[in-house]
Amino acid sequence: MDGNGRWATGRGLPRIAGHRAGAQAVRRTIEAAIESGVGWLTLYAFSSENWRRPQAEVLDLTGLLRHYIRQELAELKAQGVRLRILGDRNRFDADICADLDRAEAETRANSRLNLNVALSYGARSEIVAAARLAAEAVRDGTLNLADLDETAFARLLSTAGMPDPDLVIRTSGEHRLSNFLLWQSAYAELVFTDVLWPDFGPAEFAAALAEFSRRERRFGARPG
Ligand code: IPE
Ligand code: MG
Repeated sequence: MDGNGRWATGRGLPRIAGHRAGAQAVRRTIEAAIESGVGWLTLYAFSSENWRRPQAEVLDLTGLLRHYIRQELAELKAQGVRLRILGDRNRFDADICADLDRAEAETRANSRLNLNVALSYGARSEIVAAARLAAEAVRDGTLNLADLDETAFARLLSTAGMPDPDLVIRTSGEHRLSNFLLWQSAYAELVFTDVLWPDFGPAEFAAALAEFSRRERRFGARPG
């Protein structure tokens, strides 16, 4: 979800106004996903690199997260959304961690939309953490080295048991993955749009799905 700052600056507003408008776009996109019958949606809300932003902006973003989780939990439950957090949530303040834990627990039984929110997330550190778990398991004798294949390794990632993304949408004209689900996106279709995240909504979501449906997916196999 990129382009909040540019959206605000283009209107002569402070960046936080863009982040607030971005939170509205999150609501619209969750609704659009549900309407379209999409079962899994992962939103990259805050990267492990975003901690390096000016302290005032980090405070604005974590404040918005605190506010959003408290305000939206009831709505997520009503919509049948199951919320899960990917990333290092413990870097957030204790009250936010508690709210995230509670939101996950209270939406656990829902299945209409599986919503992952990546927070303080970075794919490389996720992969290193999984490699560490694998090494420990081999060392402790609970995993045979010969059994460590792609399936076994994927079970050690934070997305264990989840389907790989079919489609990755990047907003605001940037053409990068920026450390997002690098392992899981190996065969994802990538769709880029110049639309800034706060302007994203049902029409842009539908356009991305339409673009996806025009792609021929071969997963490395020969054209049939
Ligand atoms: C995305 O918008 C929000 C976060 C990364 C938290 P940006 O803040 O990156 O907006 P731009 O890229 O400066 O426009
Ligand atoms: Mg950006």
